[in-house]
Amino acid sequence: MAITVTPLSPALGAEIGGVDLSQPTDLRTLEQIHRAWLDHLVIVIRGQTLDEAAQERFASFFGELQEVRSRPGERKPNEHVMIIGNVTVEGRKGELPEGELQFHADQCYYEAPSKATLLYAIEVPSRGGNTLFSNTYLAFEALPPALQRRLENLDCFFLYDYNNAAAKRAGPISPDAPQFTHPAVVRHPETGKPSLFVNRLMSDHLVGIDAEESQAILDELYAVQERPEFVYEHVWRPGDLVMWDNRCTLHARTNFDPSERRFLRRMTVKGERPIAARAAA
Ligand SMILES: [Fe+2]
Repeated sequence: MAITVTPLSPALGAEIGGVDLSQPTDLRTLEQIHRAWLDHLVIVIRGQTLDEAAQERFASFFGELQEVRSRPGERKPNEHVMIIGNVTVEGRKGELPEGELQFHADQCYYEAPSKATLLYAIEVPSRGGNTLFSNTYLAFEALPPALQRRLENLDCFFLYDYNNAAAKRAGPISPDAPQFTHPAVVRHPETGKPSLFVNRLMSDHLVGIDAEESQAILDELYAVQERPEFVYEHVWRPGDLVMWDNRCTLHARTNFDPSERRFLRRMTVKGERPIAARAAA
């Protein structure tokens, strides 16, 4: 059975119809979904009833699943499930800060960031807690050519070091905080297109230039990435499975009433170390 692909915004995102991921999916259909994902960057598959095994079966088509980041003293080998939420369901407790979350790409502070993130909604608040997605191919294309050339020769230092309000900490960088330097402009390994990889939450500075100038450039880039015409806002319903590409999108979350329940199941697929657009050109 052929899938349907319906764009959700001019910038990115498409809804995929005609699939039931609670059942094993044939290879041809999986390849069609993969193609739609590369074309639209974020895919939304609504009305799904997925247990952990079904979500893992689908996610595994796209690569090896990533173990969740463990806290010091807490080792969770072979644990691929992270619960994003403020309640406990089926013995699983939610993690990550509540409320608004600034734009970022998952695990960009590691040598090999996540390639794909798959988030499945089980309970969602009556309003808010939406996920905003930004197309970072379009953000790069929108920059003046001189700035594009300059950025292609710069690296960015990424850091996981923010507080519960999901805003960056002030003060010196902790050596324990996960951190890695990647090109500011990366080339997507599957599409070959350049993507503006920096983000507001986890980019600390551009390497090798004056700190004030770095911040001024980054602020300009964030403003471009966050232009409404480059963003799709996803309003969650229970049963939504959303898969996004961390190599060419950023995501953020809008605020919601913490007295309402929110519970989503996340799995991520391992990626490769990003390559500079300049090196691949
Ligand atoms: Fe995230």
